[in-house]
Amino acid sequence: MHPNRQKTIVFVSFFILNWLLFHQLRRVKIIERNFILQGAVNKSLKLSNACIVPYWNQVTTDDVTHSDEFKKWRATGFGDTNNLIDAESRLLSAFVYPEEISIITTALYTFGKPATCRYYDCNRIEIHSARFKSVVWPLSVITCPRRLGIEYVSVSFEDEEEEDNQVIREPIPLVFRAYEKPIHEISVCVGPLYGNESKWLETIEYVEHYRLLGATFFYFNLFNMNDYDRKIIDDYERLGLAESTKYVTEYLRVGWMSHLLQTHECHHRSKFHSKWVINMDIDERLVYTGPFNLKHYLKSMPPNIGEISFSTNRVLKTEKIPEKYTSEAKLLSDMMFIKYNKTTEISWYNLKGVIRPELVASLFFHWSFFQFEGVKVMSVPKRFGHVRHYRNVDGSALNGNWMDFYNGTLRETRLASSFEKKLAKAVRKRVKYVYDQRMIRCEEIPNWVTVRYRRELLDCKFKISKFLEFKIPELQNFRVSIPKNLRISELQIFRISESQTFRFSKSQNFRNPETRNLRISDFQIFQIPELQKPRNSESQNLRISKFQNLGFSDFQNYKNPIPKYQKFKSPISRNHNLRISEIQNFRISRRGQSF
Ligand SMILES: *[C@@H]1O[C@H](CO)[C@@H](O)[C@H](O)[C@H]1NC(C)=O
Ligand SMILES: *[C@@H]1O[C@H](CO)[C@@H](O)[C@H](O)[C@H]1NC(C)=O
Ligand SMILES: *[C@@H]1O[C@H](CO)[C@@H](O)[C@H](O)[C@H]1NC(C)=O
Ligand SMILES: *[C@@H]1O[C@H](CO)[C@@H](O)[C@H](O)[C@H]1NC(C)=O
Repeated sequence: MHPNRQKTIVFVSFFILNWLLFHQLRRVKIIERNFILQGAVNKSLKLSNACIVPYWNQVTTDDVTHSDEFKKWRATGFGDTNNLIDAESRLLSAFVYPEEISIITTALYTFGKPATCRYYDCNRIEIHSARFKSVVWPLSVITCPRRLGIEYVSVSFEDEEEEDNQVIREPIPLVFRAYEKPIHEISVCVGPLYGNESKWLETIEYVEHYRLLGATFFYFNLFNMNDYDRKIIDDYERLGLAESTKYVTEYLRVGWMSHLLQTHECHHRSKFHSKWVINMDIDERLVYTGPFNLKHYLKSMPPNIGEISFSTNRVLKTEKIPEKYTSEAKLLSDMMFIKYNKTTEISWYNLKGVIRPELVASLFFHWSFFQFEGVKVMSVPKRFGHVRHYRNVDGSALNGNWMDFYNGTLRETRLASSFEKKLAKAVRKRVKYVYDQRMIRCEEIPNWVTVRYRRELLDCKFKISKFLEFKIPELQNFRVSIPKNLRISELQIFRISESQTFRFSKSQNFRNPETRNLRISDFQIFQIPELQKPRNSESQNLRISKFQNLGFSDFQNYKNPIPKYQKFKSPISRNHNLRISEIQNFRISRRGQSF
């Protein structure tokens, strides 16, 4: 290329780039007015990146409601835990209510600090003129007034507003909570799921229990959960029964120290979404023993009741929850409400609350702490209900040594038997749906695919039953026994160990170099290249493991070949006059390792 032409191209590109940049900057300014109101005339539709603003989002408010009360409560310092200090204050979730927006952040050291609400349109472009100065309260929550057309929000703190110290938190979307009336009558704030004890079964028992009590929605906070346990949360979300907040923090693990965070996140998530919210940990089960049902009881509450609290008892839990589902029989005996029945007496020592979130400003663990004016808290008589708390008696668990200090008398109690029956049925159904799983069978994959891809990529297993009756008529007992994990076709290196009389156990490299997708049922060339020379060839307990250079492909004189195994021939019979039919117990039993 001519150097002058190159220069021209560079110059022209530079010019175009600048022009685009200039235009972009101008657009940013225009954008502050770039909203199309739902129901308004269509003329602004010409703007390519305009935001359509639905009716519910055409709201702007001046201030935060209850801001005076917030100030007063903040001054008490209650909730200033100064917890999780050396952390970044991250945006966890944001909710838009009829009159305001609440943003939940992760670090707790921001308590009481000034914070600026930042508002963004549908294109994630900030509307600078909309900013509002708020204060963090309660805990790490920032409440902001509403702004028309806003879809994303963020927050900055005072010391971050200097030009050279800009911490820009990427804006997060608003979760819709601007309902006129809560859409759920009873929901559940599930306590934080932390610790490494398995949660899958406990979660299912928990959710199904509360569904039977009338709850229609569940709010989860997920700190560290393994993939297996996580499946059930995902499944309840699939059913539209749950939402979950996922924590991404700099902490390797987030434990019970974040309990208050969960409480407040859930409180704000449930506000205007659910009328009554049961605040219980994963090991706690509310038992209603009053007239009619819980829903009816809650409906009978006067409108100024912001919380009703229940007494609790403890149920001794002596074992860990199994890590995985294994069988239906085991499942029945593992269900906690069936397995454990040793209980302490019901007491007021620990209170657990069912609250109305929009009447309550702040919580402390399971109960409301600051209620709005005129709101009352009520205790529910023991005869109407209580909370069964399954407590580990295990030195390593949190307060796991509680039995050491217990000096009451344990009694055997259970849930009502009709309730238990329904619960067992529901739990079983959910467990089977989510956890009764198997591998894809290689037979289920079309042949052209199996031929083309390596078995490791296909990640399949042959259906074992095919090999169970794998017999060569002339042999007495040629079987594949205990073939639990027999995946002959996958193998590069195949070991057959522990067979009773016929062992391949010492052959290191049982290879089928010719075909990747060998099936034992139709193998063509089946080689054991590294076996040593036959010794003992006439004995009944022939050990092939000591042979080298034994190739089944060389089996020449096998008189009556089974049609399918055309080339299954015996060098033994050729070289040593040994007929396979003489081998009494020819077994390929329990595969050792496959790679
Ligand atoms: C607005 O646009 C829609 C479709 O784009 C059209 O059906 C409607 O009549 C328009 N309204 C006005 C007021 O022009
Ligand atoms: C769970 O934690 C305990 C105690 O920290 C530890 O001994 C155990 O190995 C852990 N179990 C798993 C499955 O990680
Ligand atoms: C409580 O559990 C024990 C042990 O599992 C069992 O033997 C007993 O029958 C149970 N009691 C009741 C009332 O179900
Ligand atoms: C246990 O017994 C001691 C004295 O025997 C008593 O002071 C204490 O209150 C009891 N604790 C409970 C939980 O009942």
